[in-house]
Amino acid sequence: MRQVPFHRPFIGPEEEAEVIDTLRSGWITTGPKVKRFEREFAEYVGARRALAVAHCTGALHLALFGLNIGPGDEVITTPFTFTATAEVMGYQGARPVFVDIDPVTFNIDPVRIEEALASGRHKQVKALMPVHFAGQACDMDRLRAIARRHSLKIIEDAAHAVGSAREIEGRGMVRIGTLSDLTCFSFYATKNITTAEGGMITTEDDALAERIAVASLHGMDRDAWKRYDSSGSWYYEIHDTGFKYNLSDVHAAIGLAQLKRSDEFMRRRAAIARTYNEAFAADSALETPVTEPGVEHAWHLYVLRLRPEHLRIDRNRFVELLRAKGVGTSVHCIPLHTMHVYQERYGYRAGDFPVAEEVFSRCLSLPIYPAMSPEDVSYVCETVLALAREHRR
Ligand SMILES: Cc1ncc(COP(=O)(O)O)c(C=O)c1O
Repeated sequence: MRQVPFHRPFIGPEEEAEVIDTLRSGWITTGPKVKRFEREFAEYVGARRALAVAHCTGALHLALFGLNIGPGDEVITTPFTFTATAEVMGYQGARPVFVDIDPVTFNIDPVRIEEALASGRHKQVKALMPVHFAGQACDMDRLRAIARRHSLKIIEDAAHAVGSAREIEGRGMVRIGTLSDLTCFSFYATKNITTAEGGMITTEDDALAERIAVASLHGMDRDAWKRYDSSGSWYYEIHDTGFKYNLSDVHAAIGLAQLKRSDEFMRRRAAIARTYNEAFAADSALETPVTEPGVEHAWHLYVLRLRPEHLRIDRNRFVELLRAKGVGTSVHCIPLHTMHVYQERYGYRAGDFPVAEEVFSRCLSLPIYPAMSPEDVSYVCETVLALAREHRR
């Protein structure tokens, strides 16, 4: 039986060569490869500044820190995300204010943001943290208009969105990475490009970039990493609160090679999504994802929804049966407000965000990655369709 795991990284000779070059260079932690990766990533998304960090979680934390979001502050975000998005607010003593998602894109619903701001219940909102869910860019024109009206900062959680773009008023199609105060990307193993673990923060604001760069390495001078090299000095100053969020050159080496292949990866992901969409379109038990006009989807995830009225089995059983046939899947996302820590700490309850809960109850993520062969993609299509047929109501 064919086995199609949920994810397999696409690492080739280019990544191997860059990593070996780094290992043999005599410098393996933050150094010249990180600098090059930052420069090339900034160029790729069109950003003025890019700062490489250990992971997107650290990037999001540094973004909050950089914007002075602290105890008692509130940040409006989506419950339909990975815990990292909201977890970092807790690091700063800030509070996540969840609002429900749009039922078509699964992105944060701007109408619900406006409602939360108008409700009078949230007087300390300092920022919005939208997530470009699955790689479909949020409506940044609308989010930016809300932020302007209410004097809020925007930190984009672009963990899924390397390469995503969206039509922006007056600018045409713009890649995610330059549309808000700070944008945070992930290079986790399953992401569109990977460094095994890693992240990047982009910004157009030099002062903010400097503050975050210093904070990302213990609050030391920006070039303290040079202190062991012949050009460096042993002396360093600690300027401010700091964290240990730097990326190593070994990780950056993988990223440099992956970045060169990013457009090719995205095309392959889009081709798989098209194949799935065409295969599942006519099946009444399956609901394919919808891409909004003016969006260039990065297809980090392919989120299929089941229609329970047409099936005798639920999502969990569907996932189990796919696994038994060798198809790995996952579920994105378990709404955060249904999880213990968010209920205990912030008082959220199941039922608070019905759209997120409804989508969660019937969604599953199918394998979508450039290392998939055409036979893998066909096998996933056939297996999903066979299960839907066999268990149709
Ligand atoms: C939406 C979202 N935000 C943040 C993260 C955290 O990324 P990292 O693993 O690079 O810290 C993830 C990781 O899966 C994610 O899906």
